[in-house]
Amino acid sequence: MKIPYINLTKQYKIEKKKLLKVIDKCLSTGKWVGGSEVEKFEKSISKICKVKYCVSLNSGTDALTLALHLLGVRRGDEVITPPNSFIASTAVITHLGAKPVFVDVKKDQNINENNIEEKITKKTKAIMPVHLTGRMCTMDKIIKISKKYNIPVIEDCAQSILSSYKKKMSGSWGNVGCFSAHPLKNLNASGDGGYLTTNNKSIYEKIKNLRTHGMEESRDNVSSFGYVSRMDNMQAAILNFRLKNLKNIINKRRKNVDFYLDNLNLNRVYFPMEKQSEYNSYHTFVVQVEKRNQLREFLKKRGIETSIHYPVPIHLQAASKYLGYKKGDFLETESQSKKILTLPINQFLSKKEIIYICKMINYFYS
Ligand SMILES: Cc1ncc(COP(=O)(O)O)c(C=O)c1O
Repeated sequence: MKIPYINLTKQYKIEKKKLLKVIDKCLSTGKWVGGSEVEKFEKSISKICKVKYCVSLNSGTDALTLALHLLGVRRGDEVITPPNSFIASTAVITHLGAKPVFVDVKKDQNINENNIEEKITKKTKAIMPVHLTGRMCTMDKIIKISKKYNIPVIEDCAQSILSSYKKKMSGSWGNVGCFSAHPLKNLNASGDGGYLTTNNKSIYEKIKNLRTHGMEESRDNVSSFGYVSRMDNMQAAILNFRLKNLKNIINKRRKNVDFYLDNLNLNRVYFPMEKQSEYNSYHTFVVQVEKRNQLREFLKKRGIETSIHYPVPIHLQAASKYLGYKKGDFLETESQSKKILTLPINQFLSKKEIIYICKMINYFYS
C-alpha cells in the first residue's frame, strides 16, 4: 500500500470539472487584480470567523508582516512567540528589525501562557501565539495578559481556519488574526495566499492600503509607502469555490483523528487529546513517540509517508544564532522536536489506510 502524506493531485482530480469553469469565468472578466471574487472571499471569511473585517493578501507571511508593522513593531522592539512554529512566524519579526523573545510550549505544542508575563519588558510590542496543528492556544489567559500590559496580540492562525477555543473562533481573539491559504492548508489556494481578520476599522483600512502600494482609491495618491501583497482574483475565486467544502473537510479530518485514536496503541503513542474548550481543525495530526526516526523509516519502507513539524526548533536554527539562544533554553520544545511525527490525516484517506498505518505503528512497538 502507498499512502501519501498529502494528496493535492487527488483534490484536483475531484474538483477539476467544476474548478476549471470557476477559473475560466474569473479570467474571462479580465479583472485579475482585485475584483468581485476578492470582495466575496473577504465577506465570507469575516462571517465564518465572526469578525467585522477581513483583508485578503498574498500569503500568511505577509499577513503577519503587515500586522506587526501596523501595530508599530520596529527596530529594537521585542515580540513574544513560541520557538516551535513554521519558520515564518519568527522570520517576520526579524525582518522588521525586532527581536523574537521565545516562550516554551506545553505538552500540546502551544505556547505556555503561564510563562509569558515573565518575558515582558518595556520593549515588548506584541504577543504572537501560534495555533499550531489547528489547536488554539489558551487565548482567554493570553488576552488577559495583553489587557493588563496593553500589548496587542497577533494570532498566527496560519494553521487554524475554523478552529475555536471556548466557542470563539480563531482570528477573533486578538487585535489581528493572520491566516495562510498555502496549498497544504485546510482551506487552500492553488498557490500562495493569505488573509487577515480584525474587528478594528482603522487596522482594516490601513492594511488594505498597505497591501497595494499605499495607494488610495486612485492610483495617483499614496498616503504611505506600502507593499504589493494582494490576493489574486483567481486565487480568491478558487478559495470561494473550496470554501463551500471546508466544513466537510474538517469534519472528515476530525473523524480520521478519532479513528486513529481508536486503533493506535496509546500506551506507546502520545497524543494531546482535544479538550472540551477546544475545537481543533487538524491542519496536522502530530503524535509524540519514542524512537521517532526509526519508526518513520519503518513506515516509509511500508509505503507510509509522514512528516515532522518541525524537526529543528527555531532558536536552534543557524539563522537564529545571532539571537544568542542555546540548546537547553526551551526544554519542552527541544524534547518534542525529537518525538513529534505527523501522520497522514488528509480528507482522502480511507479507513482501510488508517487501519494499515495503525497496525504498522502498533507492530513496530510490539
Ligand atoms: C504557523 C505558520 N505561520 C506562518 C505561515 C506562513 O504562511 P504562508 O506560507 O502562507 O506564507 C505558515 C505556513 O505554513 C505556518 O504554518
